[in-house]
Amino acid sequence: MISAQRWTEQGWGLLQLLLMVTFCQAEELVCRQRGDPENPQLSKDGDVILGGIFSFHSSWKVRQDTYMHKPLPLECTSLNFRELQYAQAMIFAIEEINNSTDLLPGISLGYKMYDDCDSIARSVKVALTLANGNEVVSATTEAPCTRPAQVQAIIGGSSSSPCMAIATDIGPIHIPLISHYATCACLSDKTKYPSFLRTIPSDYYQSKALAQLVKHFGWTWVGAIKGNDDYSNNGMATFTENAQQLGICLEYSVAFFRTDSSDKINKIIDVIKASTSKVIVAFISSTDMDVLIDELSQHNLTGYQWVGSEAWIFDSQTAEIDTHHILDGAIGLSIPKAHVSGMREFILDVKKLNSSSNKVFREFWETLFNCKFKLSNSSAENQRECTGHEDLTGVQNSFTDMSLMPIYNNVYKGVYAVAHALHIILGCNETCNYSVQLDPLTILQHIRNIHFKIKEGDEVYFNENGDPAAKYEIINWQPTENGIVDFVTVGLYDASLPADKQLSLQQVSVIWAQNSKQVPVSVCSEKCSPGTRKVLQKGKPVCCYDCIRCSEGEISDITDSITCEHCHPESWSNERRDACVKKEAEFLSYEEIMGVLLTAAALFGTCMTAVVAAIFFRYRTTPIVRANNSELSFLLLFSLTLCFLCSLTFIGRPSEWSCMLRHTAFGITFVLCISCVLGKTIVVLMAFRATLPGSNVMKWFGPAQQRLSVVAFTLIQVVICILWLTISPPFPFKNFTQFKDKIILECALGSAVGFWAVLGYIGLLAILCFILAFLARKLPDNFNEAKLITFSMLIFCAVWITFIPAYVSSPGKFSVAVEIFAILASSFGLLICTFIPKCYIILLKPEKNTKKNMMEKGASKPF
Ligand SMILES: *[C@@H]1O[C@H](CO)[C@@H](O)[C@H](O)[C@H]1NC(C)=O
Ligand SMILES: *[C@@H]1O[C@H](CO)[C@@H](O)[C@H](O)[C@H]1NC(C)=O
Ligand SMILES: *[C@@H]1O[C@H](CO)[C@@H](O)[C@H](O)[C@H]1NC(C)=O
Ligand SMILES: *[C@@H]1O[C@H](CO)[C@@H](O)[C@H](O)[C@H]1NC(C)=O
Ligand SMILES: *[C@@H]1O[C@H](CO)[C@@H](O)[C@H](O)[C@H]1NC(C)=O
Ligand SMILES: *[C@@H]1O[C@H](CO)[C@@H](O)[C@H](O)[C@H]1NC(C)=O
Ligand SMILES: *[C@@H]1O[C@H](CO)[C@@H](O)[C@H](O)[C@H]1NC(C)=O
Repeated sequence: MISAQRWTEQGWGLLQLLLMVTFCQAEELVCRQRGDPENPQLSKDGDVILGGIFSFHSSWKVRQDTYMHKPLPLECTSLNFRELQYAQAMIFAIEEINNSTDLLPGISLGYKMYDDCDSIARSVKVALTLANGNEVVSATTEAPCTRPAQVQAIIGGSSSSPCMAIATDIGPIHIPLISHYATCACLSDKTKYPSFLRTIPSDYYQSKALAQLVKHFGWTWVGAIKGNDDYSNNGMATFTENAQQLGICLEYSVAFFRTDSSDKINKIIDVIKASTSKVIVAFISSTDMDVLIDELSQHNLTGYQWVGSEAWIFDSQTAEIDTHHILDGAIGLSIPKAHVSGMREFILDVKKLNSSSNKVFREFWETLFNCKFKLSNSSAENQRECTGHEDLTGVQNSFTDMSLMPIYNNVYKGVYAVAHALHIILGCNETCNYSVQLDPLTILQHIRNIHFKIKEGDEVYFNENGDPAAKYEIINWQPTENGIVDFVTVGLYDASLPADKQLSLQQVSVIWAQNSKQVPVSVCSEKCSPGTRKVLQKGKPVCCYDCIRCSEGEISDITDSITCEHCHPESWSNERRDACVKKEAEFLSYEEIMGVLLTAAALFGTCMTAVVAAIFFRYRTTPIVRANNSELSFLLLFSLTLCFLCSLTFIGRPSEWSCMLRHTAFGITFVLCISCVLGKTIVVLMAFRATLPGSNVMKWFGPAQQRLSVVAFTLIQVVICILWLTISPPFPFKNFTQFKDKIILECALGSAVGFWAVLGYIGLLAILCFILAFLARKLPDNFNEAKLITFSMLIFCAVWITFIPAYVSSPGKFSVAVEIFAILASSFGLLICTFIPKCYIILLKPEKNTKKNMMEKGASKPF
């Protein structure tokens, strides 16, 4: 866990060099003691000895070295009860194995434990001492250099930095180091630390889990505080990396060390005060955290949601220091709670230590009960003399606090891992093979492959990096009424599960900062709702952005979309821009008012034509009907009916058939219609000429010729239409381009040439007809149709000439309406101009409908 100090310790490299010299001088094959001898703080003999390195003291007296004489040994200060608990846990495990008949029967385990004072230099020294066994004090000691190692494995190393130093030194000689609390992910690197193993998960997993936790609660804008040691630097680096991958942004990242000047602390506090994020992720050791909390309390920095690493999040000492309750509601990861039966009682039974080490025992006892065994003259009067019968009941300090039981369990697991490996190597069954030579490399290899269960059911094994399976509990600091913080487990994290199941939380029971039941919000920008997209703010992290509404025809249907997507051509964005709706299909339908009116007009025209035809048929024998070539009249009426009806094919949803029918039916019926009119005009013209003497023209244009000419004119149009339909027929077409939000269903012409040929032919005939009728208009016929035909052709041509620009410029369905209108108008023009005056005479002026009257003025000859 904690790396107590930076690598600035004076002369540690020098010391290491010195000790390495004592280690082996291969040429002489004799080793001479160079450094000062070291005696273990706690030891017990056995067949197999395990080493232990704990920081019974957490600090030391700083001395200014003059380099004029040999440096004095480190003077350690501040007794650390926690580390004594770890040592007790190790002794407990060793005794339990010693007592057991199943594991290592007949073999007694011993131990040698050294105090490294949380100093890297001392760590290296005691590690090499454990390897060498140089505690014997003798000036003449010279031993062969090929001695086996003193200890078969080392348990301990509570902080990452000392562990790195120890593992670097004992790696080449393969002595296994099993740490219970060094979490730095850097220690997983087996090329650097080949003999390092641990029973606590690597921070690699913790950092990942923390990032997932932060992401889970939607905090994408967080601040970060780290310590200034290997533990925090590595942990925070991995966290940052993972957070970035999950889209979390760090507003700030500040480093804090417990010895920092108040200037630096004030700067950190200013950064926190100026920040907009509400969540602070603290990857920091508990000792640093305790100092930091003290400072923050003085500035009333409350209201922040803290997210913590395992180093402080389940440390009751940190909770005690937090009297201003600025950490209330904190959430973080901790090593799963554990219970080892008998361990608690064993640890509290301090007196046993008396037998293994009097010195540590005395200091410990004195500190624990705040007394002295032998009062010196100078000591203050208020100190009691120790009786040796003091009672632990009523004593409340970190020694009686068992909240670190999971860590004791880690020590316990480490000892058992070594024992199980030895059990296999020594081939133990009912007895063990004493003649097997133990060497650290074999033990290391066996420990790496070990897989067993301790008595409480926990499985113990190491992965290829020497790390255990990563499991964490998610801890929430819940304030209770009496002001004491309760560490409530609100979830689990298991790295061995698939990615989406690793984190499981019971969110209901979480209490957040400021006693809130609501998950705090910590984002730089609010989420972008569907219909908008994110646009990053210039020069700000990716979590800060503006939400821009999607433009027309584009949508975003998810929250926080980065892009807007184009709708399919057949659809269009809705008003909120969060969905594509199908574009409205537009065509002239029977349902809308324009369609209804045009249909009605067409049907009215049809009916009117039918009525006219009926009248003509009823009075077919009267002169006025007979006078005007009744056969052509009826054919004209028939074709007019078709003209009216063909306008109906333009209304309704265009289909393949209706598209083909539209223009061709219209073209043919109109040509039929105009051919009839043309026939009539020619007849009128001929009839007049025929009255002239010597003219025999009527012979040339009798009824047979009339029929033939009508058929011939019509056939030409039929051929044009057939060519059009076979070469490139009109087809239904969805026009997406004319309007953005509508699809126009229309008939594509297929071939524009075809269309204009059909129209042009009609126009040609109409103009021909108009010219002939114009020539004949003044002929002295009482019933000169020519005048009427001229007039109707005038209307016809006017309608169709205006049609072209109107047709070309009308949008969508209106161009169809214009076309229908032109058809209807010209049909009505023909019908009304040609037939209504005659109907008027037939019905209302029957007196004029006589042969006499017909002959009276004109020279027209009835047929
Ligand atoms: C282990 O047991 C033996 C006797 O069986 C005893 O002598 C030795 O002190 C014990 N060692 C420890 C560490 O308890
Ligand atoms: C080991 O056995 C001894 C003697 O039987 C007993 O006093 C001691 O408590 C045992 N230790 C453990 C850890 O079980
Ligand atoms: C913090 O709050 C206390 C009381 O709530 C107040 O007395 C103190 O001055 C405040 N300190 C700062 C630095 O604002
Ligand atoms: C303690 O006091 C006695 C006499 O009062 C004296 O002889 C002795 O030197 C003192 N010891 C120390 C350590 O000061
Ligand atoms: C520790 O052991 C010594 C003798 O080895 C004894 O005098 C002393 O009373 C013991 N202390 C306690 C607290 O049991
Ligand atoms: C242990 O010994 C027993 C009898 O002595 C034997 O049956 C058993 O197979 C042995 N087990 C191993 C693993 O050698
Ligand atoms: C004990 O170990 C030695 C050395 O490895 C071996 O030669 C011997 O056969 C072993 N004895 C038994 C009973 O396995």
